[in-house]
Amino acid sequence: MKLVERPGKSKDKKDAHAKDESSDVSGVVGRANHEVIKKFPVDPNLKDYERAYASFDWDEAKKELAWFAGGKINAAFNAVDRHLHDGRRNKVALYAISADNRVEKWTFQEIYEASNRMGNALKELGVKKGDRVFVFLPRVPELYIATIAIAKIGAIAGPLFSAFGPDALRDRLQDSEAKIIITNPQLKTKLDGIRNELPHLQYVIVVNGDKSQLKDREFTYQELVEHASEKLHCEPMDPEDPLYLLYTSGTTGKPKGVVHVHNDILGHHMTTKWVLDLKDDDIYWCTADPGWVTGTVYGIFGPWSNGTSVVTYEGRFDADSWYEVIDKMKVTVWYTAPTALRMLMKAGDEVVYRHSLASLRYILSVGEPLNPEVVRWGMKVFGLPIHDNWWQTETGMQLIANLPCMPVKPGSMGRPLPGVYAAVVDDAGEELGAGQLGRLVVKPGWPAMLRTIWRNKERFDEYFRIPGWYFSGDNAWRDEDGYFWFVGRADDVINTAGHRVGPFEVESALVEHEAVAEAGVIGKPDKERGEIIKAFIVLANGYKASDELLEDIREHTKRQLAAHAYPREIEVKDNLPKTRSGKIMRRLLKAWELGLPTGDTSSLEDD
Ligand code: PRX
Repeated sequence: MKLVERPGKSKDKKDAHAKDESSDVSGVVGRANHEVIKKFPVDPNLKDYERAYASFDWDEAKKELAWFAGGKINAAFNAVDRHLHDGRRNKVALYAISADNRVEKWTFQEIYEASNRMGNALKELGVKKGDRVFVFLPRVPELYIATIAIAKIGAIAGPLFSAFGPDALRDRLQDSEAKIIITNPQLKTKLDGIRNELPHLQYVIVVNGDKSQLKDREFTYQELVEHASEKLHCEPMDPEDPLYLLYTSGTTGKPKGVVHVHNDILGHHMTTKWVLDLKDDDIYWCTADPGWVTGTVYGIFGPWSNGTSVVTYEGRFDADSWYEVIDKMKVTVWYTAPTALRMLMKAGDEVVYRHSLASLRYILSVGEPLNPEVVRWGMKVFGLPIHDNWWQTETGMQLIANLPCMPVKPGSMGRPLPGVYAAVVDDAGEELGAGQLGRLVVKPGWPAMLRTIWRNKERFDEYFRIPGWYFSGDNAWRDEDGYFWFVGRADDVINTAGHRVGPFEVESALVEHEAVAEAGVIGKPDKERGEIIKAFIVLANGYKASDELLEDIREHTKRQLAAHAYPREIEVKDNLPKTRSGKIMRRLLKAWELGLPTGDTSSLEDD
């Protein structure tokens, strides 16, 4: 890994571092796990959980942030600009490792200037407060700069996974009526074919674009920022003004736009401090892509608000490269995901020992159930427990965690953070006692809670169907010590390698293929990825099943939807079980797959 100086202007180079499917789950008793790991090498930021839990007040915590007159705030100002005046001006904000292993360093001052230029360029293009600007880039510095720039001018940032195909893009850009998209030449090809279906999309900005290849209303990023001013008035926002819009999957329909606001930064800041336990001399690596909420909240806003040096790696996953990142960058705090950890475990211990991981002091995981055996393996090879925590795109911040100040119970998600009241309830919203399985709910009022679903109030209201509770859609139980244990989703949402995938999206992409007449999609348990996507299809007249055809269908879904959202398994059926109203019964498909009792089938359509 070679450290290269970033071309272009740079002032002071001194840096500071030089499952469950059942619908009625209440009443089932959870098994207690008495295994605990008590080991945390440094003095944690949050030292006494019980005391903090009893006395913490979000209003008090507001003092940790920078506010404008009249109670206004800007999350990007807190993430970047304020560090120009707190001694961190020349501290490295970003160590960006490119796919070919070159490392660029960006100080807070440099991110400040670059985001100001980008903000001014967007304003020149007519972007106004509340406009949606989407970012469709791999993990390159411009992704981070653009996200900050969009927030600074009061526009709404729309993070997109670079793995998305045209269908996934179209759904998000159409629904949000995005005005601008920032991308690169390779990813732009996925956009070109759907451009005429996006009447609201005014401009495309291409990072490292070749001007001669661009059409009308397309600009290179470089030409826009070249002459733009480094001075920008950071927009004072009402705390309730939108900050970012992130699409996520539910059980029915297309992905929904979860709306988060500038006030979220309060939750980002405090949870980063407590859960990620970042200190001023930490080098922090969040492996998540900002197309996923973890990458936006804990890859950008949370750590930067705490003035932390962030490592980002554009390259793909493989054990050797990942350990190399930790070794070469001297990563101290590492936030990753169970599938990645399982894959590392599969890669073996030998590859771990080929690197020096001595810098690591703290490892965290999120997004899927973390198997106790992975935690034990982590103890063996890293000498550290892996701290699991729980949250969602909708919750906007971590809510339940194995905090550094408390013993880790392998297999548990931890305890609710100070300022957060979580519970397990039955379907009537009655709280259940320790050991009883039910719905995981949270009392509304934490700072980063979703504010609405973009232009879909009805869907938003469903989360609060019983007054006083936010329904997460997860099933869980709580033990005597107040630790929460994840059991499964209460709906059909699939969690494959930490990616939340709605079966409907995959079914829609499948039936777009000319050979597919009908499709039903489920999550099938998988040792490595938690779940894989399995599709049951009925072929259109005139088509015969063959390996080539199934491969073509798989490739089609991958191309159209997303690289991670295609069915690894496809089974051809003569017909699919449907309700009388024609809805495919995924519950039955899953029961078939798992060899479970099929339950009530009285609503099945007649043959
Ligand atoms: O089912 C839970 C699972 O991931 C879902 C949230 O996915 P997403 O909105 O993509 O949020 C990602 C940010 C973490 C949850 O409803 N999940 C999340 N964390 C855990 C988890 N399942 C088990 N254990 C966890 N720690």
